[in-house]
Amino acid sequence: MLGRDLVRAAELANHEVTATSRSECDVTDRASVQRAVGRARPEVVVNCAAYTDVDGAEREPEAAMRVNADGARNVSAAAADQGASVLYVSTDYVFDGRKDGPYVESDEPGPLSGYGTSKLAGEVDTAVVNPEHYIVRSSWLFGTAGRNFVETMLDLGEHESQVVVVRDQVGSPTYTAHLAEGLVRLIATGAFGLHHMAAGGQCSWYDFAMAIFDRAGVDCRVLSATTDELGRPAPRPAYSVLATQYDDAIHLPDWTEGLDDYLAERG
Ligand SMILES: NC(=O)c1ccc[n+]([C@@H]2O[C@H](COP(=O)([O-])OP(=O)(O)OC[C@H]3O[C@@H](n4cnc5c(N)ncnc54)[C@H](OP(=O)(O)O)[C@@H]3O)[C@@H](O)[C@H]2O)c1
Repeated sequence: MLGRDLVRAAELANHEVTATSRSECDVTDRASVQRAVGRARPEVVVNCAAYTDVDGAEREPEAAMRVNADGARNVSAAAADQGASVLYVSTDYVFDGRKDGPYVESDEPGPLSGYGTSKLAGEVDTAVVNPEHYIVRSSWLFGTAGRNFVETMLDLGEHESQVVVVRDQVGSPTYTAHLAEGLVRLIATGAFGLHHMAAGGQCSWYDFAMAIFDRAGVDCRVLSATTDELGRPAPRPAYSVLATQYDDAIHLPDWTEGLDDYLAERG
């Protein structure tokens, strides 16, 4: 999902882009990564590959680790071998959600889930093998190139008269086209290190669902539930809004603008 938008944003900024699929570059296979990166001879490698099934990672944490941590190390090492920098995309789920306010880069992570644990390990694995690294944490992604919450809601809204959505998890839904543009701008700055980059504003999944139906003109009732009532396998942070401590940080548009742009692009 993010990868497709990133290719587009990088090409628009006049970068020469080589995009690889899993069959061309399996991040868990060191030799395959070395070959793909060696062929492309890039200046920057952006790692958008991930095990992103948050509930699945509770059932098979080793599989999540293999892709999100070992795979990240392979990508970062292959970039270092070519003298290239690396960008690893991480997540708000590295935090436990107990902070009383938005999380900044210096806040201590404390993942609650197997997915969050594997992504935090991926941050470290990326950083240790390549000093020229960008670690960018974002949150609640939605984009036209992948399955996402907006599509799930619109599908449900077409067939159901009501849906149940959690109201006690708050974050910042981020449109991948906006994030992709932000990542391309970040790469141009050469500011290596850890960065938080998510949409402006905040909402609960319940608020997000209400906004989706409202803007898309779908007549579907939204009922709210608590995380406990829905009983999903993976624990998720109750509050995972990301902010940045850097004055010159790149700021993304508000999540409501992201939703409008998404719906316009989707048609
Ligand atoms: N989605 C979110 O809400 C969210 C929030 C914060 C951060 N992030 C992070 O943002 C990044 C992009 O997420 P996304 O939502 O765009 O992910 P996505 O749509 O699930 O895409 C992940 C891609 O990784 C590929 N992949 C999986 N295992 C691989 C392997 N071993 N080798 C090579 N490719 C492999 C998948 O290929 P297949 O199609 O073949 O499986 C898929 O194309 C990830 O790092 C994710 O952790 C996501």
